[in-house]
Amino acid sequence: MYSTLKMLHHYWAYLVLFMIVVATFNAVYKTMTKKEYEARDFRMSLFTLIVSHIHLLIGLVLWFAADYFSEMSMGEIMKNATMRSNVVEHPVAMILAVALITIGYSKHKKKLTSTNKLKSIAIFYSIALVLVLAKIPWKAWLNL
Ligand code: HEM
Ligand code: HEM
Repeated sequence: MYSTLKMLHHYWAYLVLFMIVVATFNAVYKTMTKKEYEARDFRMSLFTLIVSHIHLLIGLVLWFAADYFSEMSMGEIMKNATMRSNVVEHPVAMILAVALITIGYSKHKKKLTSTNKLKSIAIFYSIALVLVLAKIPWKAWLNL
């Protein structure tokens, strides 16, 4: 169970990162060049939202399945950089990133002009992207 979840979280992350990068660059580019908001912008931001929500769910189940606290106390976890990242830093940052994507997506739907719609996505998805890039455990991810 745990290894299946870990594998799912490992591979699904490629899709998540790819979609956040694509949707962010698309929105930033179209905001700066004052392009029209089109159906494909909507689909792109929605697909990014969906894959990141699925990833959030996988991450949460993985976190609970790991049952970290059965083996270590909170004090021991905080003293170990890898454990602190897995148990605290990575989940907190990523939950925040997915929340920002959700807020950006919801805000963009309510805006009425192309520029405002694209700007909402551009701002919120960009901050989410920075957080995700900062808190992916790159060594563990790319060495597997
Ligand atoms: C831990 C699991 C999840 C949490 C906490 C969560 C939370 C949320 C929240 C807070 C919203 C925003 C509602 C709004 O203001 O409009 C939302 C929207 C959405 N979620 Fe999730 N979600 C989760 C899992 C999923 C999964 C597994 C999927 C897809 C299979 C999904 C698909 C969506 C979609 C499509 C929307 C946006 C609908 C729309 O406004 O067009 N979510 N979710
Ligand atoms: C956009 C969101 C996220 C991305 C892109 C992401 C990405 C990753 C990546 C690439 C790894 C390394 C996987 C490996 O190769 O073994 C990882 C590990 C992990 N993630 Fe996430 N993650 C996200 C959200 C979350 C969330 C919301 C949680 C929990 C609430 C979570 C919990 C974990 C845990 C516990 C590990 C360590 C697994 C282990 O080594 O045992 N992740 N994540």
